[in-house]
Amino acid sequence: MTNAVKRVAVVPGDGIGPEVIEEAVGALERLRGTHGVELELKHFDWGAEKFLKEGVTLPEGALEMLSEEFDAILSGAFGDPRVPSNQHAEDILLGMRRGLDLYINLRPVRLLHERLTPLKNRAVEDVDFVVFRENTEGAYTGMGGLLKKGTPDEIATQEEINTRKGVERIVVAAFEYARSRGRRRVTMCDKSNVQRFGGDLWQRVFKEVSSRYEGIEANHQYVDAAAMFMVLNPAQYEVVVTNNLFGDILTDLGAALQGGLGLAASGNIHPGRVSLFEPVHGSAPPLAGKSQANPAGAILSTALMLEYLGHEEAAAAVERAVRECIAAGETTRDLGGPLSTREAGEKIKARIK
Ligand code: NAD
Ligand code: IPM
Ligand code: MN
Repeated sequence: MTNAVKRVAVVPGDGIGPEVIEEAVGALERLRGTHGVELELKHFDWGAEKFLKEGVTLPEGALEMLSEEFDAILSGAFGDPRVPSNQHAEDILLGMRRGLDLYINLRPVRLLHERLTPLKNRAVEDVDFVVFRENTEGAYTGMGGLLKKGTPDEIATQEEINTRKGVERIVVAAFEYARSRGRRRVTMCDKSNVQRFGGDLWQRVFKEVSSRYEGIEANHQYVDAAAMFMVLNPAQYEVVVTNNLFGDILTDLGAALQGGLGLAASGNIHPGRVSLFEPVHGSAPPLAGKSQANPAGAILSTALMLEYLGHEEAAAAVERAVRECIAAGETTRDLGGPLSTREAGEKIKARIK
């Protein structure tokens, strides 16, 4: 990454993606005035519409272009009922995650106001952890196949890949994060009681890596139990590390704990390289075009991006603004407020100081 003005590729995508990304870009523009943040944004129209018109998903050379010319990517969501195969989302989103080797999927689960959690009697301090989801392998490699398709003897295989290198680097990232943020417990979730081989590798790597981090407790939970404990006792979690699929599932649960998918933010990161920031939610077809989507998840994702790009104060200002809007009831309807996507975005922008 250079010291010059940072370059951001903006890929709004499908459904509510463009609506929430417009507000996120608005927040970034406001930061120019309030915090002197200079970013050069370039928009790309990759998504279902382009795929349907031109047959192009991730254009040729896109990955090289992104890694050579950009410092970060801000994206909305991919998924469209007109593309039931989800081919474009696979090529674009998973294509960037895998092709740019963005091995850390960082997903904070943080309650911004106690009224937002569906849990009873929980304070904001009780829901405050970060999930490190492995983001390049596991069940997401697309390996497998169909034999005798459409016959009664049909066989489908769907393979899960766990490499020593892949497991080690995500576990190390979780412990490094814990150490640098003063977190004292890392919980690794797996299903090693059933998935014996992958589980064996995760267990050994977790134990080995944790021995290098004195003072940080290494805690293990089976993922089914973790899903239960996240609801019953979320305060026990500080940093969670898990594989790609379990991380996907646990972070939708985590999104619910903090007030819903409209609020959850994420970063797809390879430290030192171009990295991708996006809300956890999808294209939400039922909400698309209605200006009902909550832009906060996308805006909080820009905060993660700003932090990654070295603009810590601006990132904190964005988070504060979102928190203040929630406290003031200036939200979209998913959080009980009266505002449209645009109005909610404007309110957040106005509070960035
Ligand atoms: P989804 O996240 O799009 O929506 C599920 C529900 O959550 C919505 O119906 C809505 O009630 C709520 N929701 C989501 N985002 C919201 C927001 N910003 N504000 C308010 N409410 C919000 O998940 P889905 O319905 O399972 O998937 C729809 C499509 O999106 C599918 O094609 C799926 O594959 C895709 N998807 C894409 C991504 C991504 O690109 N990162 C992530 C998840 C799902
Ligand atoms: C997410 C999404 C994606 C995933 C889909 C759209 C491929 O659910 O970002 O959480 O499973 O990773
Ligand atoms: Mn998901």
